Amino acid sequence: MKIGIIGAGNIGGNLTRRLTALGHDVSVANSRGPHTLTALAEETGATPVEVGDAARDADLVVVTVPLKAVPDLPSGLFDGAADGVAVIDTGNYYPQQRDGKIAGIEDEGLTESGWTARQIGHTVVKAFNGTYAQDILDRPRPAGAPDRMALPVAGDDEAAKRVVRALIDELGFDTVDAGSLADSWRQQPGTPVYGLQEGADAVTKALAEASPERSADFRA
Ligand SMILES: NC(=O)c1ccc[n+]([C@@H]2O[C@H](COP(=O)([O-])OP(=O)(O)OC[C@H]3O[C@@H](n4cnc5c(N)ncnc54)[C@H](OP(=O)(O)O)[C@@H]3O)[C@@H](O)[C@H]2O)c1
Repeated sequence: MKIGIIGAGNIGGNLTRRLTALGHDVSVANSRGPHTLTALAEETGATPVEVGDAARDADLVVVTVPLKAVPDLPSGLFDGAADGVAVIDTGNYYPQQRDGKIAGIEDEGLTESGWTARQIGHTVVKAFNGTYAQDILDRPRPAGAPDRMALPVAGDDEAAKRVVRALIDELGFDTVDAGSLADSWRQQPGTPVYGLQEGADAVTKALAEASPERSADFRA
């Protein structure tokens, strides 16, 4: 697949490493420009690009920047993407440590990914948000392995969700369908599934046990 990755930090860097290793054609962007991504490009064979070019012709785009940076992404980001492009959002809202108050989430009650989708003008599939970046490198397992981790995946576009779930399987993880973007609070920070390193049964149970109340740690 042709994949664009926006954000080359902990998650974006490790997804670049694994997706290139699997043979995908990866373009990667950060805020400082492609000249700052030469080491990652040499290591992985990914193509460093400007943010505005990251989605060009892409079948799949990963948005993996701090939430506070989402409004800075260029408008029309997906105009040149392939028809039906699937967009993964890995984001989490950390109001106290990083992002400041985001009114759309706290006052309007949007889910974190619902807010991101509105900001970028494209629906998203929420995935990897509760996955430690290092696990992307260290924890892939073949299908059927007893210690294979499962990741919750939420989204409104069923076709995009299928593409994302198939890719996560290729990366070495099971997935659990966590419902729509409106349901995706069940995998936000502070929920039982967030950071859980378990298989599909435990992930399903943790999603069911989530409380819709946002805990004080995750309010501005
Ligand atoms: N770290 C984890 O284990 C983990 C796990 C699951 C989910 N997450 C979530 O995933 C998201 C990314 O986390 P991370 O830890 O990978 O972040 P990170 O290490 O801080 O990296 C952020 C990346 O986003 C880029 N960026 C910032 N503003 C940008 C902009 N306006 N345009 C393009 N690129 C921009 C940065 O580029 P520059 O360096 O050039 O500024 C950097 O490459 C966050 O929402 C985080 O909460 C993180």
